[in-house]
Amino acid sequence: MAQIIKTGAEYFETLFKELNPKKMLFVCDEAFDFLPDKVKNIYFDHKDKLVLFNEFTPNPLYEQVCKGVDLYRENGCDTILAIGGGSTIDVAKCIKLYCKMDPKENYLKQEYKDSGVPLIAIPTTAGTGSESTRYAVIYFEGKKQSVTHESIIPNYVILEHSVLKTLPLRQKKATMLDALCQGIESWWSVNSTDESKVYSRKAVEMIVANYKKYIFENDDEAANQIMIAANYAGQAINITQTTAAHAMSYKITSLFRIPHGAAVAICLPEVWGYMLDHPEKCIDHRGIEYLSATLKEIPVTLDWFKALLVELEMGYPESTDRATDIDTLTNSVNPVRLRNFPTELTTEVLRSMYERIVK
Ligand SMILES: [Fe+2]
Repeated sequence: MAQIIKTGAEYFETLFKELNPKKMLFVCDEAFDFLPDKVKNIYFDHKDKLVLFNEFTPNPLYEQVCKGVDLYRENGCDTILAIGGGSTIDVAKCIKLYCKMDPKENYLKQEYKDSGVPLIAIPTTAGTGSESTRYAVIYFEGKKQSVTHESIIPNYVILEHSVLKTLPLRQKKATMLDALCQGIESWWSVNSTDESKVYSRKAVEMIVANYKKYIFENDDEAANQIMIAANYAGQAINITQTTAAHAMSYKITSLFRIPHGAAVAICLPEVWGYMLDHPEKCIDHRGIEYLSATLKEIPVTLDWFKALLVELEMGYPESTDRATDIDTLTNSVNPVRLRNFPTELTTEVLRSMYERIVK
C-alpha cells in the first residue's frame, strides 16, 4: 500500500473513523505536553481507545521497544500512532515490526515480515524524515542497530506544522540542517535515481526558499514548507540512504553531545569539498563524467552551504584530548555507509577531515 501523506492535524479524525481501532497504541515523548492543543486533543478526545507508551529514551534501547511490544499485546491493540521526533517514530516502527513475532526469542534475530498493523506518524520536528523511511535505529547491548524493513514505513503521515512553533531554536536549526543534508547527500548518493532526485531537489529548494523566515521569524507558512521539505528529504533517503557526512557524524554526536543534524552539517562541507577536488577518486558506477555533471546540478553550492553554517552560528566540537578523539572518530566510521558516497575516502582522508572539524 502506498503511503498516505496529509497536511493538518484535522485529518486524524477522518482516519480514526476509517480505521475504527479497537485499541490504538499511542507512542509519544516528553515533548507531547508542549504541543499545540489541536495535537494534544488527539489524545484527550480518544483517551478511552488509546494506550499510552512513553517509557523510552532519545536513543531508544531494544529493551524499551520490547516493553512497548508487551503493552501492545496486553491491551489487545490493533493500530499504532506515533507523535514525536525521529526516535519516537523509530520506536513505533519497531513495535509494528515485532508485535506479531515470537516474544520468547530476540526480535532482532528473527525473520522480519509485515505485521499488517496500521501505523500513523505525526512528526513533531522537521528533520529526520523518519515518517517516510524504512529504517529505524535502536540500541542493543550498547551497539547501534539499524532495523530496516519496507513494511515499517508508516502507512499514514500527518504533517502538522504548528508543532514546530514551540521547538527550541537550537533544535529547529539542527533538525532543519539534518533535512537539508539528507537532501544534498541523497542527490550525490551512488543509489540516486530520477525519482530520488525529484524528492531531493524539492527538499533542498524548499529549505533554501523558507529557512530565513522559519528560523528567524517563526513564520507559519515557512514552517509548513519546511515540514513538507523534511518529508521529501526523508523520501529521498528512503531510496538512496545517506552517505559520508552522516557516517562521519554519529560519533561526533555521541562524543561531544552535538545534535545529529548539527553534527552532519559540519561534516558535509569536508566531504563535499573533497569530492569536488578529487574527481579521479570517483567510485560511482555511472562514472566520472556522470558524477561531475551531477555535482554541478545540486540546487545549492558548497560556498552557499558554508555561509549558511556561519549564518546559523553552528559550533564545532572542542576537545580536551584532541589526538585521542581524532583517533576515536576516524575509527568510528562505518565503511558500509561510505559505499553510498561516490568518492573513495581512505582512513587518512577521514583523519584529515576530523582534524579540521575538531578544535
Ligand atoms: Fe539524518
